[in-house]
Amino acid sequence: MTSQVSKTILRLEAEDVRALKDGINFKKNQEDGKCYIIYKGKDKIRACVNQCKHQGGLFIKDIEDMDGRTVRCTKHYWKLNVATMEYVNPPDSFMQDELEAVLSDIDGSLELVELNPPDPWTAEPREAQELHAGEIMVHNQTIYLIMSLMYLEKSGVNLTNINVVPFGVWQNVDEHLRFMILMDGVHPEMDTCLIVEYKGHMILNTVDCTRPNNGCLPHGVDVMMSDFAGGASGFPMTFHGGKYTESWKADFIKNERKKLLNYKTQLVKSLQPKIYCPFAGYFTEAHPSDRYIKETNSKNSAADLNESIRKSCPNILTWTPVPGSVLDLALALNDPSNRGVITEPPNGTKIYKDSWDFDLYLDELNASVSAEIFKYKSWIQYYYNWAGFKDYNLVIRVTETDDDFKPLKGGYDYLVDFLDLSFPAARPERDHAYEEIKNRVNVMRHVVLNGRLWDDLYIGFNNRMSRDPDVYHHKFWNHFQTELPLSAPDWDRFLQIACETDVPNESSNGCALS
Ligand code: FES
Repeated sequence: MTSQVSKTILRLEAEDVRALKDGINFKKNQEDGKCYIIYKGKDKIRACVNQCKHQGGLFIKDIEDMDGRTVRCTKHYWKLNVATMEYVNPPDSFMQDELEAVLSDIDGSLELVELNPPDPWTAEPREAQELHAGEIMVHNQTIYLIMSLMYLEKSGVNLTNINVVPFGVWQNVDEHLRFMILMDGVHPEMDTCLIVEYKGHMILNTVDCTRPNNGCLPHGVDVMMSDFAGGASGFPMTFHGGKYTESWKADFIKNERKKLLNYKTQLVKSLQPKIYCPFAGYFTEAHPSDRYIKETNSKNSAADLNESIRKSCPNILTWTPVPGSVLDLALALNDPSNRGVITEPPNGTKIYKDSWDFDLYLDELNASVSAEIFKYKSWIQYYYNWAGFKDYNLVIRVTETDDDFKPLKGGYDYLVDFLDLSFPAARPERDHAYEEIKNRVNVMRHVVLNGRLWDDLYIGFNNRMSRDPDVYHHKFWNHFQTELPLSAPDWDRFLQIACETDVPNESSNGCALS
């Protein structure tokens, strides 16, 4: 494959360079309409695309910023310090991708440069060959491979034949079939998207990827598949206190779902796939103890998104897959107006699951509650030392609760000060950020015992939180959701030490759930 080279995406002549003011400058490339931010510092010019990492919003001047270094996103108000290229809201979170700003000694011009190709799928192109009816049948379980391989084991998924492949390079399966994995621009450590190509026909799957390949994606693919629902996070349903009233949450959810629908519609419109299929998002908060989440965490439907896409781009064939339905790609490409290319399941086919074997999961979680280690209070220090997060001015209070988030009799209730990784009995006197996190005891202890990521708590709606100030601590959550050590804490060793140094606390162990 050809290696990447640099490409000039904006050029300012010497006169325009001299006209740049100190601090923030907004510039537009008149040829392609793309917008850029140029920051003129004392001894350095920095530049980036004017596009927010969150969901691609446009930045404008931040009127609250006295230093003239910060811009504010017009969509959800993230803030970017252009002098450092760090997002300051959310704090300690992302870096903006910086463009090379090349100032010419010869003619005084300035060129903004980016890597090329940003579109590695164009390497070694293959002519699209004619497909025969029945050659590619797309089922709703066709493609679902979007996880960080490194964390598969920790996430509890047991796979045994894993091949690690580089990003952005075609992987040949056979003479006709190949695939390429692309990185997510916002969460490169976690999310990916996938292109599968068969006989020159591409299927693009962007499910659960916030900014696949940093927003640069193939146009005119044969099939594009994506998520559609929203709501796969604890925010804001698991938050309380301050602004998090029921009506604020309801308004927020409504707006967010609407924005997601528009965002997906615009993305599909700009990429112009021949067929679009929203397929990931059919989850439900099934357990009775999660009824509050189920009732309030409303989601977009695939049918709503398809309707919005059909209105905006009637030329694109939309398909809402249900269990048992199949799309014949060859027929669909030949005649997109023919709905007969889709085989629907027989009438009366059950679409949604309506009963679950909860014990399959709960037995394992509940077994953790009475684990030996929880007899010793020193498991707390041992666990957080193993986790290795510190030098951050945040104090958390963690409370073990029952399924309804009521503090559990005999459960642990403790503070962790991450500035020096201490475990004080009361909040420190100094200024500090503070979060109270109530965790269902069975999930928390299962996470602790097995060294699992805190996704089980946060994305699983298994905690309730309040924070002061109301700030998302990306650094903290990112650590506990993606950066924990790969092997679980050595609890055998802990027990050897604890037996000699700690006094067993019988009441905190075996605080079984009712
Ligand atoms: S798109 Fe910028 S904050 Fe959401």
